[in-house]
Amino acid sequence: MQKRFFLRTVALAALCGASGLSLAQDNAFKIGLILPMTGPFASTGKQIEAAARLYMAQNGNTVAGKKVELIVKDDTGTPDVTKRLAQELVVNDKVGVLAGFGLTPLALATAPIATQSKTPLVVMAAATSSITEASPFIIRTSFTLPQAAVGIADWAPKNGIKKVVTLVSDYGPGIDAEKFFKDRFLFNGGQVVESLRVPLRNPDFAPFLQKVRDAKPDAVFTFVPSGAGAALMKQFSERGLDKAGIKLIGTGDVTDDDILNSMGDVAMGVVTSHHYSTAHNTPTNRKFVDAFMKANNNLRPNFMAVGGYDGMHVIYEALKKTRGAGGEALLNAMKGQIFESPRGPMFIDAQTRDVVHNIYIRRVEKKDGQLWNVEFDTIKDVKDPGKAR
Ligand code: DHB
Repeated sequence: MQKRFFLRTVALAALCGASGLSLAQDNAFKIGLILPMTGPFASTGKQIEAAARLYMAQNGNTVAGKKVELIVKDDTGTPDVTKRLAQELVVNDKVGVLAGFGLTPLALATAPIATQSKTPLVVMAAATSSITEASPFIIRTSFTLPQAAVGIADWAPKNGIKKVVTLVSDYGPGIDAEKFFKDRFLFNGGQVVESLRVPLRNPDFAPFLQKVRDAKPDAVFTFVPSGAGAALMKQFSERGLDKAGIKLIGTGDVTDDDILNSMGDVAMGVVTSHHYSTAHNTPTNRKFVDAFMKANNNLRPNFMAVGGYDGMHVIYEALKKTRGAGGEALLNAMKGQIFESPRGPMFIDAQTRDVVHNIYIRRVEKKDGQLWNVEFDTIKDVKDPGKAR
């Protein structure tokens, strides 16, 4: 009798335990955040993870009655690894969103997983124009290189820069930057005398910069991915290009805010166009920068952090709208969102699923002993020019 009672109690407890568990699972909403946390692009991963955690700390981890769980995975910047991790996150962890994607090839490798599993995929970093066309489940909160490149292509010829050599990393975003800079610069009456492409991995800029020097242009237009700008700037100065009167211009990736101070005075006066500067002077951004620096040992948030922060915002707002439902409903709730980001006004174009935002022209200036990308002109509400092809 006692034994039977014991067994019944155990069975009941097991049943409650099991249903308790499934209840907890139903009440969780998991975000699989795949980022390069190690290797040459680790700064991108560090910035985005920190921004996502800040967003959750500020906005709580319960949305529409669901407990939001962030699962961070390190893909080391290798496309096969990103794809495998995404598959595991969808199948084993049952994530409702895939997010992150520090480089273009990582996003492109994973796009088929999003399509097949109908899982919204939020691109927070990668910036080749065509990425959003790789799956109807992709939404982008970073930027596109055509958006960033045309700003400086309009500014340069009006400011005495007529003859340019382009120097870009040899993969998707570099090729977009080269093409869209060149087309607009030629349209504006400029001349591109040479187009150089450097390897993405372990680039040695020196021989390319020597070629730039020999061509005697007014300026070199550059795109390198986040984190690589300091090495380029160092060799630019070591090769004496600045002394030879050659200016450096580019998209804002090269004067990346989190490493700008380490570049030294050679960076002073460099003009770039980009969608985000840590120095963007609005209350929303100042609040974001202060909180980010406080939580991360004074690390400055760069444009990668903003892509991550805004990506979390898009996910949270979509979840509120669907009352916690995922899949296609969640994707649809991400489309068309309009909000005030630390970068300025931001819009997710419902047709292209790509970001529309301001592009700012900025100059590196020293203030209080520190270097900043100081914005001095704004091109409003720029849609991706790459989508018009
Ligand atoms: C990409 C990566 C970067 O670090 C960057 O600054 C811009 C684009 C990319 O791979 O898409």
